[in-house]
Amino acid sequence: MTELSLTPFSPGCGVTVDNVQLAALDDAQLQALRAAFAEHGVLFFREQALSPEQHLGFAKRFGELVINKFFQPVDGYPAIAEVRKEKAQKTNIGGGWHTDHSYDEIPAMGSILVARQLPSSGGDTHFANLYAAYDGLSPGLQKTLKTLRAVHSNKHLYGADGYYAGTDIAGQLGGHDSVGDATHPMVIIHPESGRHTLYVNPGHTLGIEGWTMEESKALLDYLCQHVAQPQYTCEFNWQPGSVVFWDNRATWHYAQNDYHGESRLMHRVTLAGSRLAAA
Ligand code: SIN
Repeated sequence: MTELSLTPFSPGCGVTVDNVQLAALDDAQLQALRAAFAEHGVLFFREQALSPEQHLGFAKRFGELVINKFFQPVDGYPAIAEVRKEKAQKTNIGGGWHTDHSYDEIPAMGSILVARQLPSSGGDTHFANLYAAYDGLSPGLQKTLKTLRAVHSNKHLYGADGYYAGTDIAGQLGGHDSVGDATHPMVIIHPESGRHTLYVNPGHTLGIEGWTMEESKALLDYLCQHVAQPQYTCEFNWQPGSVVFWDNRATWHYAQNDYHGESRLMHRVTLAGSRLAAA
């Protein structure tokens, strides 16, 4: 067995994992990766060269897969979603802070993104550490947040009248009839680490249960600017062979859209999670 090497990626967000080939993970390495995933929320890997089969095989070592209802699947691989932007397109998928599938009753545990085609520069992905951001709030606000639930949705993005319908990537997104909402506690107990983490995100969280839209917006805006501060975030520059595995219960991410005139193609596999428990 080769022992994994873990190096903090930035002072407050993520860890780089070396000394591992994800296509040939032994059981001890799998256990070490599980522990790192629960502790750090986002794992960065380089020089992996995973085939689609190996991508799926790696994901299945961690649990069941969920199929994204809106993204196009990769030909012949229904469980791999394409995150694609073509040369002529101006809009990208996931261009604002969000976490995947928070609009589901049982939200996704994690996502594994593999770089397939990269622009000559740009197209980085930013991540935020929600454990650290929660710990950075005052005890008074933490206590209040623990009493609240928030509504998450995908209608405003993927519905027939949603944001993407009016963009130049409308044709590559489907599932308009599969949109829906879910409510979740605003502070959850992370199912693996047992830590408390803030569970709201700018992309999908529309409001706070029992509050007006105006009241909700004021608190959600405050929380969103708090999480997006540099001490809780990091920026990952993709290279051929890069793979990122993030925890959707403990991080946010967004894809920087700064490479107009070039293409970018990523393959994403999403892992099923469990019902979220209030802290
Ligand atoms: C996503 O939002 O899942 C995709 C992120 C990326 O393309 O970097």
